[in-house]
This record gives sequence, C-alpha cells and structure tokens, in this order.
Amino acid sequence: MEIDLGGIIPSSRLPEGFSWVPWHDSLIDDHAAVKYKCFAGEIDAAVFPALGDPHGCRRLMFEIRRKPGFLPEATWLIASSSGYVGTVQGVMDKGPIGAIQNVGVLPEYRGRGLGRALLGRALEGFRRVGLPRAYLEVTAENAAAVKLYRDLGFHRSKTLYKAVAL
Ligand SMILES: CC(C)(COP(=O)(O)OP(=O)(O)OC[C@H]1O[C@@H](n2cnc3c(N)ncnc32)[C@H](O)[C@@H]1OP(=O)(O)O)[C@@H](O)C(=O)NCCC(=O)NCCS
Repeated sequence: MEIDLGGIIPSSRLPEGFSWVPWHDSLIDDHAAVKYKCFAGEIDAAVFPALGDPHGCRRLMFEIRRKPGFLPEATWLIASSSGYVGTVQGVMDKGPIGAIQNVGVLPEYRGRGLGRALLGRALEGFRRVGLPRAYLEVTAENAAAVKLYRDLGFHRSKTLYKAVAL
C-alpha cells in the first residue's frame, strides 16, 4: 500500500505515559525484541517465519540496519514506564520512496493509537529527508493493519501472492 507524502499525514502525538526513543545502534536488540513480541502468533509470522522467531527478528534488524537506505529518521521505539511497547523501521528504496519495514505494538497496548502514531512518526521522517511517497507491504488477511493503513490514507498499489506452508 502507498501514500503520497505531499498531503496530510497522521499525527505522531502519543497518549500520556508514552514517549519516543530515536534510533541508536545500541537499540538494535531492543527493536528486535519488541518486533518479536508484536509478531509472535500473528498472521504475518505465518507468511514471514523470521518474524515469529527471536533470532529471525534479530537477523531482520541487522539486515534493515545494513541497508544503504536505512533511515534513522523513520525508525523509532515507543517507551512506557514498563519498557518498550512499539517499534517501526524505515528505509529509502529506489524511486526514491520511503519503505516502512515493520510496525508493531505489543498486544496489551493495542487500540490506544500507538500504531497510528508509529506510522505518523515514520512518515514524518520520510518527509523530513525529502521523500515524496512511502509504501509498505501488508498481508491481506491482517484486517487490523489493513484498516489502519486505509484510515491513514494508504491505498493499494500492487498485489503479491506468496505460498505459505501450513
Ligand atoms: C497493526 C498494529 C500495529 C496496530 O496497532 P494499534 O496500536 O492497535 O493501532 P491503533 O490503536 O493506532 O489503531 C488505529 C486504527 O487501527 C485499526 N485497528 C486497530 N486494531 C484493530 C482491530 N483489532 N480490528 C480492526 N481494526 C483495528 C482501527 O482503524 C484503528 O482506528 P480507530 O482507533 O479509529 O478505530 C497492531 O495491531 C500490531 O502490532 N499487530 C501485529 C503486528 C502487525 O501485524 N503489524 C503490521 C504488519 S504490516
């Protein structure tokens, strides 16, 4: 799904009690741990098995960090008094276009606007470095995520089919 960054983008305001933590290389394991806790047991972990495995999530984080277009401006953690509760990572792909890698909120913190704020923060980061558009890939069955992206102004740009082992 794709969004034009020239228009209105979602607010990155966080509810009370939560704060933004900008990217630092020392946070790579924290992003990986939150990513794992967000995706374990979810539909995307069936489609992309690395997401359902702690080592897989760590590997994915190192791969994202190593990409030439890795963008700290679009890579954030959300902190709460009990630790990190959300993560998003962004890179610049050929186009140029911003690519949201993974966005996740711990199950017990969902439905409070954190997912929306994470996307807003990543999109602001893309805009700050001058990117005109952004995209992400989402599994069609992931109803919560698809609804969230539609509500925020993303539209479907391409459908990919992937075989999944059952
Ligand atoms: C997708 C995800 C990040 C949403 O996080 P969240 O913090 O619950 O999202 P928000 O509270 O900001 O919700 C924003 C919108 O999402 C939609 N939404 C959230 N949860 C939903 C649900 N269970 N069912 C349907 N829509 C839902 C709604 O449109 C909601 O808007 P509303 O508050 O106006 O109703 C979270 O569910 C998650 O981490 N899922 C597992 C990982 C994942 O699948 N990530 C996306 C991969 S592409």
